[in-house]
Amino acid sequence: PIRVRLTGVGGYLPRDVVTNDDLARKFGIETSDEWIRTRTGIGQRHIASGDETTSSMAAEAARQALEYAGVDASQVDAVLVATATPDQVFPAVAVQVQAHLGMTAGFGFDISAACSGFVYALATATALMRSGQARKVLVIGSEVFSRLLDWTDRSTCVLFGDGAGAVLLETGAGEGEGVLSTHLHSDGRTGDLLYVDGAVGCPSTSQHLRMQGREVFRHAVVKLSQAVDEALEANGLTGQDIQWMVPHQANLRIIDGMAKKLALSADRVVVTVDRHANTSAASIPLALNEAVRDGRVRKGDLVLMEALGGGLTWGSALIRM
Ligand code: ACO
Repeated sequence: PIRVRLTGVGGYLPRDVVTNDDLARKFGIETSDEWIRTRTGIGQRHIASGDETTSSMAAEAARQALEYAGVDASQVDAVLVATATPDQVFPAVAVQVQAHLGMTAGFGFDISAACSGFVYALATATALMRSGQARKVLVIGSEVFSRLLDWTDRSTCVLFGDGAGAVLLETGAGEGEGVLSTHLHSDGRTGDLLYVDGAVGCPSTSQHLRMQGREVFRHAVVKLSQAVDEALEANGLTGQDIQWMVPHQANLRIIDGMAKKLALSADRVVVTVDRHANTSAASIPLALNEAVRDGRVRKGDLVLMEALGGGLTWGSALIRM
């Protein structure tokens, strides 16, 4: 069987940092550092400037992942970008990334699964590789949610940030190594809990993110718990076998809840939500990039990923690094 290993990580965070106090004082939002911190764990977020686009950030994260793995862009067979905030409806961000990297072969396409996008892209890439259609694949999450936010709605605008994260996947893992399994779910009946207003070609609509926070929270706790159990059961493992949880970073309370369920101590959970806020599809690869580069996540470690987002979509993945 063809096995898929993770050989490179990269990330990009926009230059501008906006703290919770900045939101209250400079942006004039009726909020406080205390309110945001106690409910979400968020302390600050990075916000993209005009020259920092979904494709430029994705390309920079990808460059770092290639450099980490010692692979040249010309060797890459496919680029998958998970994003809900593409530069344009088309061409896909992935194809623009190919151009940024100087790739003249291979293929690229985007994946739309909101905050679960990275897990979806990882699953898709793994399936392409296992079926022999690609041997080296860049899997990227890149988002500029700051451009989707209604900055007059304090219940959503304080929660998100911008950024990009990337991994390089290559075939050739040993038995029990690499991507062990991925588990995807979606349910369109809950589409009204978290969505973007309006439609393509409808200039009268606002194109802003809308969310019923409490309901999303309730679904997240139940569905993420199921997705995590599914991943463990599929591999005959228990929570105690996990070295690292690298969750989607939406809210520290959701992350803590999942760690508690798995009986994982806080030092086994990679947390970036305090500094990055929720960067949607970019949050997992950004967190993994940080934890691999600072030496926490090492070769041989079992890493559990989980995410839930608009759709609703949700899922999990297990990787032996
Ligand atoms: N600053 C100060 N007060 C605020 C703010 C703010 N930024 N936002 C809302 N409030 C007020 C509300 O107006 C309300 O006031 P009221 O009681 O006088 O009406 C009060 O705070 C409570 O509002 P709730 O929305 O009920 O607050 P809650 O405790 O549910 O927390 C939150 C809101 C943080 C959004 C929470 O529901 C949550 O984290 N939900 C999960 C959503 C999420 O993380 N989504 C991300 C995408 S999906 C995913 O990735 C999991």
